[in-house]
Amino acid sequence: MGRLPLPGFVVFGMAFGSMALLMTSGVRWGVNRKTRTSFNGQEYIEDSMAGNQTRYRVVTSSDDTGGESFTMELLIREGAYGASRGQPGSQPGHLHLYQDEHVEVKQGRLGYWRGHASLAAEAGAQDDGIIIQQGEAHSLWNAGGEGGGDLLLEVTWRPARQGEALYETLAGLGHEYETALAVSPVQKLLTYARGETVLTGMPAWAWRAVEDWVVPLAEGIGYKAFYKQYSTRAAAPKAEELLTRQHGLDAS
Ligand SMILES: *[C@@H]1O[C@H](CO)[C@@H](O)[C@H](O)[C@H]1NC(C)=O
Repeated sequence: MGRLPLPGFVVFGMAFGSMALLMTSGVRWGVNRKTRTSFNGQEYIEDSMAGNQTRYRVVTSSDDTGGESFTMELLIREGAYGASRGQPGSQPGHLHLYQDEHVEVKQGRLGYWRGHASLAAEAGAQDDGIIIQQGEAHSLWNAGGEGGGDLLLEVTWRPARQGEALYETLAGLGHEYETALAVSPVQKLLTYARGETVLTGMPAWAWRAVEDWVVPLAEGIGYKAFYKQYSTRAAAPKAEELLTRQHGLDAS
């Protein structure tokens, strides 16, 4: 046997390239072909198939307020899965780049941290609720403890920006994959990033890498930040969609 007809790095590059192509086209196929449950017209989304985790209900949508705010009711059950151990229903630490968040406790005991302080709030104790400022890192959870029951919150984000899509998409994906735990991390990062929400548990440089690399790559292979099926309102077609349909114009 003589020498390979091509230098080793070219052979390696071709092998690596075809593997990458196969993998990404596989993902694209999978992501695009996935059958998604439609929640249009439904009252709420359970973020688990078993209905034993967190329930999301839009009280006032971004469309209702002309983009000024939107309000969601969150029912965080006693045993809900939490991003932090021992904190049922806790989200990963995060901040909203452009929105203030107003949390009212309707029932149960809320645990939360903002900055570094861990705090609690009871239903009825703080009638004005809690305001988390735009840019302030925070996480919420059910602090009822064992036998403490469910936690019911009403949360308003102001201004609405991308609206309830971030929460409805995370809930819908959780439902689709049986639990939020099973959703691809790439999908979750994309949805948070496009939802103008920064995960604060990772170093700033890592979040920059998410915005600069993960987001374009994920969208390039077919992931979407938000899926329109995961919306509890029957979406009325927007003017630009009608235009697209009538004239075949590209509205993007
Ligand atoms: C929720 O239901 C699923 C499926 O029945 C079960 O595996 C899981 O342990 C339940 N989670 C909680 C917190 O009860």
